[in-house]
Amino acid sequence: MRKLSGLFALLTALTFVGAIVVSAEERDPLQTRVPKDQLSDAKQTKNPVAKTKENILKGKALFEGKGTCFNCHGKEGKGDGPAGQILNPSPRNFTNCKFHKKRKDGELFWVIKNGSPGTGMVSLIPAAITEEEAWTIINYERAFCEESEEGKAIK
Ligand code: HEC
Repeated sequence: MRKLSGLFALLTALTFVGAIVVSAEERDPLQTRVPKDQLSDAKQTKNPVAKTKENILKGKALFEGKGTCFNCHGKEGKGDGPAGQILNPSPRNFTNCKFHKKRKDGELFWVIKNGSPGTGMVSLIPAAITEEEAWTIINYERAFCEESEEGKAIK
């Protein structure tokens, strides 16, 4: 009996260590998270915040501050923030230009507002940020691709 519980403890410990060391993967980043019946509305919703340099910098400050996004998505947007490393599926990698190509701003906004069920991405409007702040952050998240070499190449 003692032997068995020792084995059990060892297995539990290994699973725990494994979860931290082997970071999880993203769940298909090219598949939209917006339910079918709301998808066309979401796609048509335009970002009311202009994508100026000044607004992108505001987005960065919100991403790394009040919005707490960096905790999971990482300061460089790679989805590898300290809290993100233990999440399964892992947070979106915003440096992936293929992901940005597949999504309209309104679809990103939908997820920030409603969350993505069954993942660490919970609804953050109005819990952490306002709607306008979310649109501002979206402009910054786009910049992770747009300012990368890959993003410049496909412009
Ligand atoms: C607790 C961790 C956590 C925090 C904090 C967090 N996210 Fe996420 N986020 C995730 C995870 C996990 C996913 C992947 C969800 C999925 O695969 O469906 C995700 C996905 C996303 C997506 C992708 C939606 C899509 O269409 O695929 C966007 C956009 C996003 N987050 C924006 C934000 C913004 C903006 C903030 C800050 C205001 C933020 N997140 C804070 C964990 C987090």
